[in-house]
Amino acid sequence: MNSNETVLQRFDLDGDRLPAHVAVIMDGNGRWAKSRLLNRIKGHEQGAETVRMVVRTSREIGIPVLTLYAFSSENWQRPQTEISALMRLLKRFLRSEKADMLENNIRFNAIGDLQRLPGDVRQAVDYTMEVTRENTGLLLNLALSYGARDEITAMVRAVAEDVAAGRLRPEDISRQVVSDHLYTRGMPDPDLLIRTSGEMRVSNFLLWQIAYSEIFVTRTLWPDFSREEYLSIIREYQKRDRRFGRVTS
Ligand code: FPP
Repeated sequence: MNSNETVLQRFDLDGDRLPAHVAVIMDGNGRWAKSRLLNRIKGHEQGAETVRMVVRTSREIGIPVLTLYAFSSENWQRPQTEISALMRLLKRFLRSEKADMLENNIRFNAIGDLQRLPGDVRQAVDYTMEVTRENTGLLLNLALSYGARDEITAMVRAVAEDVAAGRLRPEDISRQVVSDHLYTRGMPDPDLLIRTSGEMRVSNFLLWQIAYSEIFVTRTLWPDFSREEYLSIIREYQKRDRRFGRVTS
């Protein structure tokens, strides 16, 4: 038995039914802080610890792709102090996790309108992508300045340009062509979408890609989301009957 099988057995997980891609809407940092009479930024700091735990756990059990919604295109409308704190946290996270990513074969990738990020953050993002490029284990995707409607709009524009330039015929536009023009090209669609803090919304996250995702909403606020809860959601996911619109025989 290899070490991954031992880990799966210990956590009572079925290695043949692991989600190929887990996507997470990390919500509730502000409420976590408020309930403790703390500044919202403290909530984000504690949230960054949960990010570390989810990355570590995903890697340990052998999840191939993990996408975390760290900053939405709408988040630019938050107060400048909060935006700056989130950007600082992000930079700190990339710096502190680099060694761990290299040691554990994690490939880092960012999806979203990265041009809008401050120069130093953009540099840190590019650098981390570059140094982990050859890794073949967990693909850690951070959604930064990300909005699915922007992503879909950019996809339509790119496809239209291909048609206008004669590289593509309208009748050849398929689901595959659409997927290939999204930020997530080449990745499996999320099998599992988790949202913390109890809100029943998808908040402009991976709208094309989550068509058949199994959705789990927990009332737990992101900073309180634990390894045990993450593992129990994956165990629950493994019990779900996924039909993709078909009937089961
Ligand atoms: C939602 O909580 C969370 C965010 C907008 C940002 C997510 C950021 C982190 C988890 C920490 C930093 C990330 C990394 C990758 C180091 P909210 O502020 O909307 O909470 P609320 O709805 O309770 O106000």
